[in-house]
Amino acid sequence: MTYEMEKEIHEQPKVLKNLIEKYVTKENKISFNLPKGIKKLTFIASGSSYHCAGIVAKLFREFANIKASFEYASEFYISKNIFIENNTLYIFISQSGETFDTVESLKKVKEFGGKTMCVTNCINSSLWNMCDYKILSEAGEEKSIASTKALSAQLLCLYLIMLEFIETKGHDITQELISIKKLPTFIEKYLSNTTQIKLAAKELSKNKNIVLIGSKYYYSAAKEGALKIKETSYIDANAYPQGEFLHGHMAILNNKPALVAICVEETKESMKLVLNRLFQDYTFPLILVCNKNTLFKNALTIEIGTTNNIYNIFATVITFQMLAFEIAIKLGRNVDKPLGLNKVVK
Ligand code: F6R
Repeated sequence: MTYEMEKEIHEQPKVLKNLIEKYVTKENKISFNLPKGIKKLTFIASGSSYHCAGIVAKLFREFANIKASFEYASEFYISKNIFIENNTLYIFISQSGETFDTVESLKKVKEFGGKTMCVTNCINSSLWNMCDYKILSEAGEEKSIASTKALSAQLLCLYLIMLEFIETKGHDITQELISIKKLPTFIEKYLSNTTQIKLAAKELSKNKNIVLIGSKYYYSAAKEGALKIKETSYIDANAYPQGEFLHGHMAILNNKPALVAICVEETKESMKLVLNRLFQDYTFPLILVCNKNTLFKNALTIEIGTTNNIYNIFATVITFQMLAFEIAIKLGRNVDKPLGLNKVVK
């Protein structure tokens, strides 16, 4: 493989496997040191790490029944009033551990006495050194400017943290751990055939605008997809929560963008309603990221082929990485070093 981004996308099964081996024992126990008595979580991050925060916060609310919010670091640290609550854990997510906005936010939380934790790829980074609790996401060095494997690694660490929280509430998480141990093989198989993604990329590369819609964690995944496409191909890509899109935003379909809809099992029925409503008044090229397309025969389809929610989340994120990569290559962009972008490194 000639490109770092492509190489790093394909490294993901190995990265995930290594992390599972590091943090999950053979007896299906998770080996993190987590604070006790936590009632609420606030995730703070930037860029792709922020989208990871969005996915994870919604997973915590939905499956761990824990209050969780997420904030852009750049907005958080400049706020006049910072409300630090007891029993809240502030979790900072960052590949580099050095992103200015995220580090400044951490300083603010510490100044007001908040309990802090980081998930970072860089040991001895500023976040690592300053946080009370720390988890290493160990994705290895990421050379491509667009983050790929670092995000999957963060996502996995945070999913495991969530499972550990669930276990401390007295629930058995053995099945979830057995299932997550098979995730790397699933992703490897999924990445071994990217024909549908390449076809979708061919269609999308013809568009000046791309709209992505999804719901819940898939909305955050859609935002990450939009960021990846913007960064690497410079196409104006924007994500919307699927239902909210109907509230006026859909008028942009008059500009004839392509529409990418995440239509997996959990959100299939609500997405069907949204798309049927859109087709009443607009025509647009539709790309469906779904388990199996039984709904819209004319859509270009990227089939993930599983109904497992967690697999779907990882596969959707990785689909958008590949899609962004393929679009950028088709457009002849410098995919590993997009014009004007730099990577924060430790
Ligand atoms: C996206 C990307 C950036 C970073 C962001 C945060 O592909 O690379 O959006 O995700 O600058 O960086 P970290 O995670 O190092 O704090």
